[in-house]
Amino acid sequence: MKPLRIALTKGRLEKDTVKLLESAGYDCTAVHEKGRRLILPISSGESEINIVLAKAADVITYVENGVCDLGVVGKDTIMENGRSFYEILDLGFGKCRFALAGKKGKDFYSGYNEKTIATKYPNVTRTFFEGKGMDIRIIKIEGSVELAPLLGLSDAIVDIVETGSTLKENGLEIIEDNVAPISARLIANTASLKLRKNEIEQLAAKMEEERAKQ
Ligand code: PRP
Repeated sequence: MKPLRIALTKGRLEKDTVKLLESAGYDCTAVHEKGRRLILPISSGESEINIVLAKAADVITYVENGVCDLGVVGKDTIMENGRSFYEILDLGFGKCRFALAGKKGKDFYSGYNEKTIATKYPNVTRTFFEGKGMDIRIIKIEGSVELAPLLGLSDAIVDIVETGSTLKENGLEIIEDNVAPISARLIANTASLKLRKNEIEQLAAKMEEERAKQ
């Protein structure tokens, strides 16, 4: 049978997943020596996997459409884009949280004017404010969202916060950070999970075992 394909979110989650796969017995030399290659075979001796490197939202697209059996993606991306796939394991790394943040010392909730929120996560932001019964205007930003309130484009941002240093170094502060806890998740295509149940369950069990040791 052809090797399982697992799409990894390039960057930090990729590195942590590769570490986990190495401790689970996979030789990941091909990933370390990848150059500009995007599909990389790894092997544990018994089983082979093809690693596919993609942007977070694309990991979901490839898994949903069945061209990758599995994927590793942050819960933030799942909450923003998630449609139909199984979320089979919380990998424990990539921990951060969603937060509403604004300029230090400014009372976000004062006044009756409609507030403008800048974010990379418009769906998460809409749901969050719907829960509060608040009408807001959302402006989609692709990165470094912290710029928006500093430049006067928005009253606040909804973004992921890990250490809090980006906010602090830019004179911003958390208004609320109970929006949602985030970490990396292993997701599976629904058909793959039926057709290749044993292989997927074995790999997920190995990953879970190694995660517990870390
Ligand atoms: C994320 C996030 C914040 C920062 C938070 O950005 O959007 O800017 O990390 O981390 P901290 O709380 O530890 O400072 P990322 O590095 O993914 O870059 P981007 O915003 O340009 O996409």
